[in-house]
Amino acid sequence: MSKRNQTLGEFIIENQTSFKYSSGELSRLINSIRLAAKVVNHEVNKAGLVDIIGAAGDTNIQGEDQQKLDVYANDKFIQTLTKRNIVCGIASEEEDDFITINSQDENHQNKYVVLIDPLDGSSNIDVNVSVGTIFSIYRRVTPLGTPVTLEDFLQKGSAQVAAGYVVYGTSTMLVYTTGHGVNGFTLNPAIGSYYLSHPDMQFPEDGNIYSVNEGNYSDFPTGIKKYIKYCQEDEGERPYTSRYIGSLVSDFHRNMIKGGIYMYPKSTKNPKGKLRLLYECNPMAFIAEQANGKASDGFTRIMDIEPTELHERVPFICGSKNMVDKAEEFMRNNKE
Ligand code: AHG
Ligand code: MN
Ligand code: MN
Repeated sequence: MSKRNQTLGEFIIENQTSFKYSSGELSRLINSIRLAAKVVNHEVNKAGLVDIIGAAGDTNIQGEDQQKLDVYANDKFIQTLTKRNIVCGIASEEEDDFITINSQDENHQNKYVVLIDPLDGSSNIDVNVSVGTIFSIYRRVTPLGTPVTLEDFLQKGSAQVAAGYVVYGTSTMLVYTTGHGVNGFTLNPAIGSYYLSHPDMQFPEDGNIYSVNEGNYSDFPTGIKKYIKYCQEDEGERPYTSRYIGSLVSDFHRNMIKGGIYMYPKSTKNPKGKLRLLYECNPMAFIAEQANGKASDGFTRIMDIEPTELHERVPFICGSKNMVDKAEEFMRNNKE
C-alpha cells in the first residue's frame, strides 16, 4: 500500500514483489537512476552561476574544464548505471552508438538495457526554465553470456519494463512506472530524499491545454493544422489554452496533472518529426498509457512502432485520451 510521505527507497522495496521478474535488480537500477538524478540536480541548480563560476568550455579555478550540462548529465548517468552489475548496455541521445557494459565476472551476465535522454530541453538551461531527464528500461533479448547487440535496443515500446523522467523544476521530481501505474516523488533537497508526493498519477480524460510549437504552423500536416484551429474555436469548453515550454518533460508533466495534449508533428524541416522514438517518445508513451493517457504518431500507437535505428525520430501526439483521439480523427480525415 503506497502512502504519501513514503520515501522512494521505501516505496521501491515495498513494491518490488509486484514486478513480474521480481528480482531486486530492477529496484537497484531505479535506485541508481535516483542517485544520478540527485547529482545532476545539484549541477542544474548551479547553472545560473555560470557567469560567476565559468561557462561550458572555460577552465575552472581548479584547472578542470567546465562541461556542458548535457554532457555532464550524460556522463553521470552512464557512470552510475555502469557500476552495478545490472545493465549490459546503454544507448543515449548524446552518444552516436550504444555502449556495451560487461558484468564483473566478464561473462556478460547483466540483463537490462537502458536508453536515456540525459538532459531534455537543454535550450532552456540558459534562461532558468525547467529541464529534465528521460529513461527507458528493457530486458535484453539476446542470450546471457554474449555481448549486447543493437537488437537489444531496437525493441518496441510495448516491451519496456520501466520508464520514467526527472523534472528539474521549481522542485525536482522523479516520476516512473514499472507497468503498475505511475508515481511521482519530490526531492527534499535539504536531506536529499525523494518522497511520494503524487501517488497513482492520472491524465484527466479530457483537458483544455494544447502544447505545440506554433511557429512551425505553416509547415504542419493539414490534420494538425485543422486540429489546432479546432482547439482555438469558441465552442463549449473551447478555446483551449496554449502552453508550450519547449521541454518535453515539463510540458508532459503539466499536461498529465492538468489535462492536455502535446504535439510535435512532422514538418518540412523535420520530415519525420523531431523527437526520438527510443529516448523520448516510447518512455513518455509508456508513462502516458499507465496514467490513462494515450500516445500516437497520428495514426499508430507509439509503443507498437518497430524501431529500425537507434536515433530514429517520429511524430508525437501525447496526452489526455479524448484529446489524442480527436487529433487522430483529424489526421485520419485529412491524409495527404
Ligand atoms: P533535447 O533538449 O533533448 O534535444 O530535446 C528538446 C526537445 C523537447 O524537449 C522539446 O519539446 C522540443 O525539443 C522542442 O523543440 P522546438 O524548440 O523545436 O519546439
Ligand atoms: Mn529531449
Ligand atoms: Mn537531450
